[in-house]
Amino acid sequence: MPNYEVALGYAFEAACLYAESLGLGTVMLAGTLNRKTFEEAMEVGEDEALAVVSPVGVPAKSMSLREKAMRKFLGADKRKPFEELFFEGSFDRPLDKGSSGMFLHPLEAVRLAPSATNQQPWRLIIDGKTVHFYENKTYKDNPLGDIQRVDIGIALCHFLVVLREEGNDGTVVVEDPKLPTKENLFYICSVKLK
Ligand SMILES: Cc1cc2nc3c(=O)[nH]c(=O)nc-3n(C[C@H](O)[C@H](O)[C@H](O)COP(=O)(O)O)c2cc1C
Repeated sequence: MPNYEVALGYAFEAACLYAESLGLGTVMLAGTLNRKTFEEAMEVGEDEALAVVSPVGVPAKSMSLREKAMRKFLGADKRKPFEELFFEGSFDRPLDKGSSGMFLHPLEAVRLAPSATNQQPWRLIIDGKTVHFYENKTYKDNPLGDIQRVDIGIALCHFLVVLREEGNDGTVVVEDPKLPTKENLFYICSVKLK
C-alpha cells in the first residue's frame, strides 16, 4: 500500500492528540521497546507488522534520570526555526513568518510536532493555496519501512487539525509539482485548500 507509513503516522497521532485532549500522556515508541514481547502480546501475524506503540496514561510528575539524559542527548526540547522548515514557492525562498497569514498556526503546529529522535524531517513549500509536504530523509529504511514518513504523517495531522480548528479546510492529494529539490528531499503529498 503506497504511503502506508504516512497514513499510520496520521492516524496514530490523531489518537494521541485525542488522548492528550483528555489529559492523558502519550509517546510514540519505535526503537526503545521490546518488540518481540509487544508482537507476542498483540498476536502479530506473519503478514502483519507492529510499527509503533504508545503508553497512554497520567504522566509522571517528574522525569527519571534516564529520561532526562536521553532527552538532553536528543535535544528533545528544541525545535528547528520556522525559516529552516518552511518555504515559499521553492526551496530557495525561506517563508517569512510575518507573511504566512492563515498558515501561521498550522505551520507552528507542524514545527512543534514530535518525530523519531527529534529529526523534524518535514519541509513544506507554500505555493499559493497549496502546501507541499517533503521529507528530509536522514535515516535509511528499516525492514518495516521509512520511520520518517511516519513523522510526515504526524506533521500532516497537526497541520490539518489546526487548519480546521481555525475554520479552514484542505484536501490531501498526491500530485508532485516536480519543483526542484535538494539531496535527500522527497515529495510526499500536498494539501489543497478548499
Ligand atoms: C515515530 C516516532 C518514534 C519514536 N520512537 C521513540 C523511541 O523509540 N523511544 C523514545 O524514547 N522516544 C521515541 N519517540 C519520541 C521522540 O524522541 C520525541 O518525540 C522527540 O525527541 C521530541 O520530544 P517531545 O515529543 O517530547 O517534544 C518517537 C517519536 C516518534 C514520532
